[in-house]
Amino acid sequence: MSVTELFLLLPTAIVVLIIAWNFIRKKRRTLNLPPGNMGWPLIGETIGYLKPYSATSTGKFMEQHIARFGKIYKSNLFGEPTIVSADEGLNRFILQNEGRLFECSYPRSIGGILGKWSMLVLVGDMHRDMRMISLNFMSNPRLRTHLLPEVERHTLLVLRSWKENSTFSAQDEAKKFTFNLMAKHIMSMDPGKPETEQLKREYITFMKGVVSAPLNFPGTAYRKALQSRTTILKVIERKMEERIRKMNDDECQRMEDDLLGWVLKNSNLSTEQILDLILSLLFAGHETSSVAIALAIYFLQGCPKAVQQLREEHDKISRAKEQAGEFGLNWDDYRRMEFTQCVINETLRLGNVVRFVHRKALKDVRYKGYDIPSGWKVLPVFAAVHLDPSIYDQPHHFNPWRWQTTHDRGSAPTSSSSSIMTSNNNFMPFGGGPRLCAGSELAKLQMAVFIHHLVLNFHWELAEPDNALAFPFVDFPKGLPIKVHHHKLGQEQQHSSNS
Ligand code: HEM
Ligand SMILES: *[C@@H]1O[C@H](CO)[C@@H](O)[C@H](O)[C@H]1NC(C)=O
Ligand SMILES: *[C@@H]1O[C@H](CO)[C@@H](O)[C@H](O)[C@H]1NC(C)=O
Ligand SMILES: *[C@@H]1O[C@H](CO)[C@@H](O)[C@H](O)[C@H]1NC(C)=O
Repeated sequence: MSVTELFLLLPTAIVVLIIAWNFIRKKRRTLNLPPGNMGWPLIGETIGYLKPYSATSTGKFMEQHIARFGKIYKSNLFGEPTIVSADEGLNRFILQNEGRLFECSYPRSIGGILGKWSMLVLVGDMHRDMRMISLNFMSNPRLRTHLLPEVERHTLLVLRSWKENSTFSAQDEAKKFTFNLMAKHIMSMDPGKPETEQLKREYITFMKGVVSAPLNFPGTAYRKALQSRTTILKVIERKMEERIRKMNDDECQRMEDDLLGWVLKNSNLSTEQILDLILSLLFAGHETSSVAIALAIYFLQGCPKAVQQLREEHDKISRAKEQAGEFGLNWDDYRRMEFTQCVINETLRLGNVVRFVHRKALKDVRYKGYDIPSGWKVLPVFAAVHLDPSIYDQPHHFNPWRWQTTHDRGSAPTSSSSSIMTSNNNFMPFGGGPRLCAGSELAKLQMAVFIHHLVLNFHWELAEPDNALAFPFVDFPKGLPIKVHHHKLGQEQQHSSNS
């Protein structure tokens, strides 16, 4: 290209640039983005957003942003332009339009660690197929016949190891319970065996990496978690090969009734897909519900009146069983745990195990006069809705009774109960829409059965002050140390269900 040609081209290029610039500006001008602050280049406001805060609050970042910009604001988080929503209507709108206007979109580091076939990462048909497998496996009939007795067995296994006057981490015990249950249900691995214990240890390292900064350097939590992932996959693969050998073995036709066997028999997923599915189910199935149980232990410890009412409810159930000569909880017993359900909802509302989810806009979306541009990240923050004083009376207060009015159809709705009525579809501890938590019923069952035996058998108090923090994953920094005492009545009950 000659110098003259360049001089001729330059003005043309400038004109083109000006036209393009005007076009972009015009588009920008017609877009009404929510107010907000894009923060620093690249990191944006991510550091402020991820700063730990008390799990029963929305945190300073949220509070300040909502006060300044309202419940819908723009920011720059996890390296992307983002709309943050603390608005109950928008949150519901986002979840219900999954696959049409919005789509699940977790940071790439999550995919690196959970695997590209993990359900959190998949979208479209592949997500649907994997979801069907999980739902099938946790279906209501299976919950009633298979899972309920297993949940009770694993609860008692943990609670019977608690010695009078001893002090221990309630969070570790809850994790032991949920992990053992999942390992058994998914791969028929028995609690206490070396293989199971190794897997449990690997998951602790793994979890630290899932929630840490995705820095893949030697020594970082993320790098260690990637190594744990490899070890975990090896264990799962070994179980899988063992199972395939057994399936081909004529004398051993009897299939173990677990997820692994079911997937091998009823799906044609590849080995790689099965490994990721099992790894992430085991993860999703124990990290969340163990935190929920620890939160219940924590909140109840501060609310003796609720413990008293729980004890009455569970004592009644347990006496009725004794009279009928029945052993082991059944589905009817579970259905009778009404106040327990209030305690569970209140624990999930106040503790917010999963505080927000990651989505992105697939199209330009308009909501309440605001534009959400296609391709932007969108974070529906459930926790901000659950702790919103315009929706829940005294939202920072643990009050299981607030859930009771929902069922008091006979009584005239007072102003407070009508606010509860409308708030019910704003309650989304398990997300919603086509990606509603596949394990929500199992999680509630685990909490209820654990609470049943806990209140019947023990009194407990905090051995040291500890509180739940949001990192934003919820964790007790000291592991929730508690001191326990046997409850006399409960001891008899425990012996009777032992026989
Ligand atoms: C209290 C305990 C639990 C809470 C708070 C919880 C919360 C959630 C939430 C909010 C989601 C939606 C994620 C999103 O939309 O991006 C989810 C998804 C999921 N959860 Fe749970 N969960 C709990 C327990 C469990 C358990 C026990 C299992 C059992 C294996 C489980 C399995 C799953 C699966 C497979 C998904 C993915 C669903 C899909 O993408 O279609 N969860 N969970
Ligand atoms: C438990 O500790 C209390 C005092 O801390 C003591 O009075 C009680 O005897 C102890 N109980 C048992 C069974 O050790
Ligand atoms: C197995 O894969 C084929 C083709 O991909 C599909 O048509 C079939 O429905 C699948 N079978 C099962 C049980 O998923
Ligand atoms: C608990 O919340 C769920 C929604 O997740 C609701 O369907 C249920 O009725 C609530 N339970 C009580 C006792 O209010």
